[in-house]
Amino acid sequence: ALAAAIEPKIVMVGFMGAGKTTVGRALASWLGRPFVDTDELIAASAGRSIAEIFAEDGEQFFRRLEAEAIIEVLTGAPAVVSLGGGAVGTRAVREALTGHRVVFLDVGYDEALARVGADSGRPVLARPDLPELYAARQQLYREVATVTVPSTGEPGQTHQELADQLT
Ligand code: S3P
Repeated sequence: ALAAAIEPKIVMVGFMGAGKTTVGRALASWLGRPFVDTDELIAASAGRSIAEIFAEDGEQFFRRLEAEAIIEVLTGAPAVVSLGGGAVGTRAVREALTGHRVVFLDVGYDEALARVGADSGRPVLARPDLPELYAARQQLYREVATVTVPSTGEPGQTHQELADQLT
């Protein structure tokens, strides 16, 4: 009965550089719904950037804040929600996604890196096992997705394909 009371959200998942924020924002305005970026939410409520949270308190701490923020947003008002690329690594997040429309923006590894560049705001980019992390996450994105859209170089085209699939 509790689950039935939760409004399904449209949730964007995918690796860093997949275009979750860009495409999610376009989709939200097209649908006339609010757009929520959970990374922005976490940074705002912590009063620190994501990079600062990682540097000062570590990744595990960030993952707890992240899971709490996501669960709160998913049980709140209708919205298009963009998750950080690593959120699906947390079991509680994967479970909370059940019943929502989860859009996997599928970007190739090289394309993803080319798009984000050496952005210091993304501490996970410095990990030596980044290719393995990418591969492991692709599995998780597929697992939680209800819709998969290739993320091409052109956000407008990705948005159009997604709009077609969601209507
Ligand atoms: C992360 C991705 C980031 C942000 C944090 C960790 C990751 O979000 O949540 O830096 O583990 O891949 P984006 O996917 O929006 O860059």
